[in-house]
Amino acid sequence: MKTTDNKAANGVVIPAGALTGSLRDYRAPEGKHLLDRVSGFYAWQNLRRDYNLWPYAKSTATAPKTHTTAKSDSGADFSGVNFASQDYLSLASHPAIKEAAKAAIDEYGVHSAGSAALLGNTRHSLLLEKKISEFIEGREIVLYPTGWSAGFAAVQGVVRPTDHVVLDVLAHSCLQEGARAATQNIYFHGHLNIEGLARRLQRIRAADKTNGILVVTESLFSMHSDTPDIAALRNVCDQYDAQLLVDCAHDFGAIGEAGHGHLGLQHMMDAADIIIGSFSKTFASNGGFIAVKTRAVAEYLKYYSATQTFSNALSPVQAATVLTAFDIVRSSEGRDRRLRLMDNILYMRSQMAKVGLEALGDPSPIVPVRVGAEGLARIASRELGNLGAIANLVEYPAVPQGGARFRVQVQADHTREDVDVLVRLMLQAISQAPRRRRRRGFG
Ligand SMILES: Cc1ncc(COP(=O)(O)O)c(C=O)c1O
Repeated sequence: MKTTDNKAANGVVIPAGALTGSLRDYRAPEGKHLLDRVSGFYAWQNLRRDYNLWPYAKSTATAPKTHTTAKSDSGADFSGVNFASQDYLSLASHPAIKEAAKAAIDEYGVHSAGSAALLGNTRHSLLLEKKISEFIEGREIVLYPTGWSAGFAAVQGVVRPTDHVVLDVLAHSCLQEGARAATQNIYFHGHLNIEGLARRLQRIRAADKTNGILVVTESLFSMHSDTPDIAALRNVCDQYDAQLLVDCAHDFGAIGEAGHGHLGLQHMMDAADIIIGSFSKTFASNGGFIAVKTRAVAEYLKYYSATQTFSNALSPVQAATVLTAFDIVRSSEGRDRRLRLMDNILYMRSQMAKVGLEALGDPSPIVPVRVGAEGLARIASRELGNLGAIANLVEYPAVPQGGARFRVQVQADHTREDVDVLVRLMLQAISQAPRRRRRRGFG
């Protein structure tokens, strides 16, 4: 991305505060005035902004395609190959989906104007429930306005204060917040560590034979691009009378021959008691769903999960968009797009390995590339933008301290040339970051 903000490109000393610190430092500010006490965060953010080291809250000025023009949050224009948008099958600007959205507007207007528990459903949302149900072996489907609200609801809707929730330590914020809203009996096990989970379940069951236990994981972890052994999770849940929730936000629709993600690849479609999914990564819209095995549970969630009952339903435009996206995902075109996506992913990982860039995890639309220390990573991120490529930076506390990484998000429509450009520029940005830091000093 060619930035027009040259503020930090002229050899100025970068103050230490812009290269250190994290969002965690400002999570629990002290003081009795709830609003005054947050200003430390703003000062730190602005210090980073002054040196073009605040890579968040960017906006696109064009559609989020494989090349895009955008603005930083301080208004600097930039453009380049785009590996920072979540549109794995490149459906966000698909002509059939745009047509479906326009037709829905003509038929319904733009708003559902109510919660799904009241008058918020539309012909499109009812059809969408059916379509997802057909795709996931006849499960009962409940739709939610966002993937986040579906994840929150899946935990909050079924867990009560005397129950227990055991989560993979990297489980998404929506799952953790759902647990916090439901009970104080929350435990985390080491990432993908089935033995750790089994030990925890054993202890919980030894002490409590009467209440429920929900085990919570993801089919593809979004910062590490790795996957649990779902059969092993199912076994251990059965052993201790626990139910299993799997969040498929990142692989559902995008991975596997039929698009069933890792649940499909591991032949474990039936293993999860609760599946949650998001439409925002592959299905070109906000929105999410919960898939369960019985109508009784689906009906219960409709009236006892807060973000279903007390939040406005998907708009008709969103429902029509996702409906059409599902048709494509299930068609030979969808299969072809998944193949192209996986080809890009494998090609990118192989090209990165050749030049010594460390791609973490397993092949998926998310390719996390290790940079390391936060200060260097911030400089590398700025350099990458200046060179003409866009990829999101992830730092502590979203990932472990000292484990900052680029989170590259691949699309079916990327070309091998796009991948080559990204790999070349990312290598350049990461390798010149230490020099940039030394040359400019560290005040
Ligand atoms: C694992 C996981 N679950 C749920 C969500 C929330 O989905 P959405 O952004 O569609 O609300 C995300 C989004 O980043 C996610 O990564």
